[in-house]
Amino acid sequence: MSNMDFLRAKAEGRTLSMVTCYDYTFARLLSKSPIDGILVGDSAAMVMHGYPSTLSASTELMRLHTEAVVRGAAGKFIVADMPFLSFRKGPALDSASVLMVAGAHAVKLEGVDGHEDVIQRMVQSGIPVMGHVGLQPQSVRAYGGFRVQGRSSDSARNIARQAAALEELGAFAIVLESVPANLAREISESLRIPTIGIGAGAGCDGQILVLQDLLGLNTDFRPKFVRPFLDGARCVLETLASFDKAVKAGTFPAGEESYS
Ligand code: KIV
Repeated sequence: MSNMDFLRAKAEGRTLSMVTCYDYTFARLLSKSPIDGILVGDSAAMVMHGYPSTLSASTELMRLHTEAVVRGAAGKFIVADMPFLSFRKGPALDSASVLMVAGAHAVKLEGVDGHEDVIQRMVQSGIPVMGHVGLQPQSVRAYGGFRVQGRSSDSARNIARQAAALEELGAFAIVLESVPANLAREISESLRIPTIGIGAGAGCDGQILVLQDLLGLNTDFRPKFVRPFLDGARCVLETLASFDKAVKAGTFPAGEESYS
């Protein structure tokens, strides 16, 4: 897959699948899966490092996770998230450059108002850009929490306007996060570029979930839009209990698991 394949998929009516990934081991598994694209999300700050929001992701942290995923998922289309403010202050292209040199095929950034020039410069510099509108987790402080966006007509119009602006600026795809399904469908139908939904209903051109959520590894909090396709936490806990039991019973390691 490439950014051009994303556009082709939309033109041909093919639905796209994406998941987040932050590490080499899962990247190896994803490289053997039919998933269309991988996002090295700034959710790494929460999922991998236990921070309460994505604000703690730095360009250096994103570089390390991007490099690990790139080493594991050769052949997959990999998008890296630009962290909080990295595309609004100073030389924004430096941050994008770090992630592209780390091996990402594209970068994703949240919002559009106030950094239209940065998006345009990236696109003109040959950096494929994925947009992200609706709930923008980097603005969680401004929202006063993780809240569904686009429920009022003003807010819905604003999200649709931002999506159209991103297409105009040359983005190849847009993540629509936590917006009403009808709004996401209308936006998707109005754009030539694909929308990738998370908490945005079935009318998007593709779907993305955080890998640990879809594997059921995160038992602390489950947003309404998450479907765990595996009871991963239970599998892991049962497996650890089996290991513990075998160790304590003296049945692990067996002779064939020992060196002579
Ligand atoms: O960082 C992330 O996990 C994301 C997804 C919510 C799309 O941006």
